[in-house]
Amino acid sequence: MSSGIFITFEGTDGSGKSTQITLLADALTAGGFDPVVTREPGGTGIGELIRAIILDPAHREMSAVTEMMLYAASRAQHVDEVIRPNLEAGRIVISDRFVDSSIAYQGGARELGGIVGEVNGYAVRECMPDMTFLLCAAADSVFTRIKTGSEDRIEAEGLAMQRAVAEAYRRLAEEYPERITVIDASEPIGAIHARITERVMALLESKGRARGR
Ligand code: TYD
Repeated sequence: MSSGIFITFEGTDGSGKSTQITLLADALTAGGFDPVVTREPGGTGIGELIRAIILDPAHREMSAVTEMMLYAASRAQHVDEVIRPNLEAGRIVISDRFVDSSIAYQGGARELGGIVGEVNGYAVRECMPDMTFLLCAAADSVFTRIKTGSEDRIEAEGLAMQRAVAEAYRRLAEEYPERITVIDASEPIGAIHARITERVMALLESKGRARGR
């Protein structure tokens, strides 16, 4: 479909994804590439508005199906406006969360199951990551880190939700071992970064993109 490379980062809340995304983007830039870094929910003007609705702690009455469809709507816009055009232009696109988040949070923790894959299949239309890094930390330690009193609506669901998410992610990684690399988030930041960079460089090489652009 495209000459670009699509990399996603996944994990439970507070697993250190954003630190690793920044480090990877800096390393790619230093190597002469020009990566596009984006995130979900959000990544577009419309997506950021949807994000505010989804994560607002005041929206306690939101049903699981509404939540799933709002994430998918934000994603459909993100794919059409940002991800697909940049991949078609040959860029490296790095997204903080993508479809696997919906499979884990809405499909697993919210127990909506297979419908989440169906709705999201329609939202992304074949635009799937080439490589995904799943940062796994013990749910309890992550929850202590994020428990600051200013949680968003999903974080406020607590430890049981984080555990169910972690379990759903674990199943996904088993199902797609060639795409998803599982990383122990308790390892030192530098060691995790080195491992991620090594995998990404190997991917770039396999696509004939060892250096620059
Ligand atoms: P965010 O502040 O971006 O969290 P994080 O830094 O952990 O990525 O908030 C996004 C929240 O939305 C997070 O709790 C995960 C959740 N989420 C879903 O439940 N389903 C989804 O499809 C996505 C993309 C995120």
